[in-house]
Amino acid sequence: MSGSDALVAAARAARAHARAAYSGFRVGAALECADGAVVTGCNIENATYGLTVCAERVALLKALSEGRTAFTRIAIVADTARPTPPCGACRQLLWEYCGDIEVLLVNLETETGRMHLSALLPMPFDRSLLTP
Ligand code: THU
Repeated sequence: MSGSDALVAAARAARAHARAAYSGFRVGAALECADGAVVTGCNIENATYGLTVCAERVALLKALSEGRTAFTRIAIVADTARPTPPCGACRQLLWEYCGDIEVLLVNLETETGRMHLSALLPMPFDRSLLTP
């Protein structure tokens, strides 16, 4: 299994744990750390709807809370023919903590898209803009 295949497999496995009772839209994510470790996440919904946390953010916050500081790629899986890219909030947080990582978009069978985060978040607001 290539590195990419393993990352995608981890994202697909994580999707099985999605708590998506309200939308029925199950998402898995697998974040690759610079040392090769993989941290996974799935979307977790809530009856208030607004407290939903996306799969990407679950993976990122898990990784950060475990002391992970450097990342290389993220795989995101949804059961859609078209690519399911990360939402705006996730793009912002991924940019803050992961920088210009590679983003692999996949469904249950195949890859649907591949790009770097900078293509999804052009002209980001980040810490470099906090000082005039
Ligand atoms: N969702 C994710 O987890 N990641 C995405 O990239 C897109 C959307 C979740 C949030 C919510 O639980 C469901 O998908 C529908 O928006």
